[in-house]
Amino acid sequence: MELKPFYPVSDKAKAHSYLSEHDYKQMYQQSIERPDEFWAEQANTFIDWYQPWEQVSKVDYHQAQIQWFAGAKLNVSYNCIDRHLPERASQTAIIFEGDEPGNSHHVSYQELSDQVNKFANVLKSRGVKKGDRVCIYMPMIVEVGYAMLACARIGAVHSVVFGGFSTESIKTRILDADCQVVITADQGMRGGKVIPLKDNVDAAVADCPNVHSVIVVERTGADVNWNPAIDVHYEQAMAQADSFCEPEIMDAEDPLFILYTSGSTGKPKGVLHTCGGYILYASMTHKYVFDYRDGEIYWCTADAGWITGHSYIFYGPLANGATTLVFEGVPTYPDASRFWQVIEEHKVNVFYTAPTAIRALMGLGDELVNKQDLSSLRLLGTVGEPINPEAWHWYYEVVGKNNCPIVDTWWQTETGGVLITTLPGSSGMKPGAAGLPFFGIKPAILDADGNELEGECRGRLVLTGSWPGQMRTVYGDQQRFYETYFSQYPGYYFAGDGAKRDKDGYYWIIGRIDDVLNVSGHRLGTAEIESALVLHPKVSEAAVVGYPHDIKGQGVYAYVTLMKGEQGDAGLDSELKDLVAKELGSFSKPDLLQWSPSLPKTRSGKIMRRILRKIAENELDNLGDTSTLADPGAVDELIENRLIR
Ligand code: PRX
Repeated sequence: MELKPFYPVSDKAKAHSYLSEHDYKQMYQQSIERPDEFWAEQANTFIDWYQPWEQVSKVDYHQAQIQWFAGAKLNVSYNCIDRHLPERASQTAIIFEGDEPGNSHHVSYQELSDQVNKFANVLKSRGVKKGDRVCIYMPMIVEVGYAMLACARIGAVHSVVFGGFSTESIKTRILDADCQVVITADQGMRGGKVIPLKDNVDAAVADCPNVHSVIVVERTGADVNWNPAIDVHYEQAMAQADSFCEPEIMDAEDPLFILYTSGSTGKPKGVLHTCGGYILYASMTHKYVFDYRDGEIYWCTADAGWITGHSYIFYGPLANGATTLVFEGVPTYPDASRFWQVIEEHKVNVFYTAPTAIRALMGLGDELVNKQDLSSLRLLGTVGEPINPEAWHWYYEVVGKNNCPIVDTWWQTETGGVLITTLPGSSGMKPGAAGLPFFGIKPAILDADGNELEGECRGRLVLTGSWPGQMRTVYGDQQRFYETYFSQYPGYYFAGDGAKRDKDGYYWIIGRIDDVLNVSGHRLGTAEIESALVLHPKVSEAAVVGYPHDIKGQGVYAYVTLMKGEQGDAGLDSELKDLVAKELGSFSKPDLLQWSPSLPKTRSGKIMRRILRKIAENELDNLGDTSTLADPGAVDELIENRLIR
């Protein structure tokens, strides 16, 4: 396979009459020079408003105050459903593909409307009002979408918690947002395995005294524990619910949802998105980045528990009247050709997945791909982490047969939608580069002192100016919002990523420069994993770093110091890994755990993570200055016992 550094727009792509390079540049220019005019025009094109805004944008990064379309009125569920009904009532809104092949069905826009309206009435009957927070802990079934849209319809603020999270994680999120209602399922099914969702919720809400209702969708029909005081049978409640619920008229700046994400310190942050700006940005980016065309089948393989699932399985596609595929399973069940089978079966046109999945499947050979008919594919996308050029080429050549542009989309939970990517057909692609900024987005690269660098450069990626999909605050902690994103480099939004810009203005994301890991596209805070490890009575201290991992991108490497007199062995190794899985979910489990009698620290007691990272990566030539360490001998011992050589 020849690894070319640049792929110009192909003739085949041109035949799809994508936005031309000239039009992209012109539109980009307009969006930067006259942003308010540009965004007002987009807002009128993409969204139906009950009432127009008083001011397009009002942004002050020095105070971390961000407003878009203030004073305008809309309802997000109306935009995702009702306004499509005159033309699309019988069109498929959602294709559900279950964990087991053969378990698949279509949901039309009319059906979506009926279900969401009823669900909204069920929530109302449990006392949920505008502004109340509702926790959603669900498998990837259509009801997760109904639940989100039902909240949006009545103005409740949803907080979706990924179904892979553990009891502890659910509990902290319920308590942080003071959710009083939880929506879940009896069990989930993923890759043939049962996930005890209701049991996990039961254990979590035992410590959440304000939760008065747990609405339980039947997925497997298993006999689960039932607490009649708070548990509500979803199907029974829906059967009694009225099939119309008037959408709540919301201000553009009213909250739409909270989604928790890990940071470098402390507990996860509740990223808050609001109605108007978010739905405009999700729908507009969905339209342009994937060049979505009416009637196409669009599939994003993310989970609803992450921002990608929010913006690009549900909100963006549904606002655009698209057909979106919801997949319950995993790429390797019942076998590793599952993705390709689903594409063939449902004639998927646009396919959006993560580099980690591509790497895992690529290692299993081309035959699994080649035996399926993938001729429906028009466009491919990736998200979540940098894609290595080998995986990019395999995706392009073997999956896309050299015919499908790839959009490598850089963005974050905080940004609501894609900020950097090459728009399909408009600009050539460079494997490994996210590419060029989306309309209205002004990235910059700063040096360590905060000076803006020009031309080709490498440093910290920041954004100057705002965009409608930007988060508005950390739920309940405006100070943390300011400190995390706006305090290091005043006047900029600091994304936490390192990046370089090449001579053509393409951005290449290098990775996080804070203590956040990106494991299989999941964002993990090292501090959270360390806190979980030290819960064990035999552990006195722990330090967690990332190391390069062939499939996951990064793996979790934990250095553990035991209490005096304790001995590390295989039993304790797996006990500690299981403890992390129990506290945070199995995707946070350390891959490697090294017993470390002492950790390298500065004289002021700060753990030298830079050195720990190098040892974990087996990069010993370049350990840097160890002279400031309190105990330089600690390093030799760690090197001696390192796990990767
Ligand atoms: O480090 C970047 C990486 O994922 C981080 C954001 O994680 P999260 O909020 O969980 O959202 C993931 C899905 C949008 C970023 O700070 N990241 C995301 N997309 C890319 C990426 N790194 C490189 N290339 C990408 N395309």
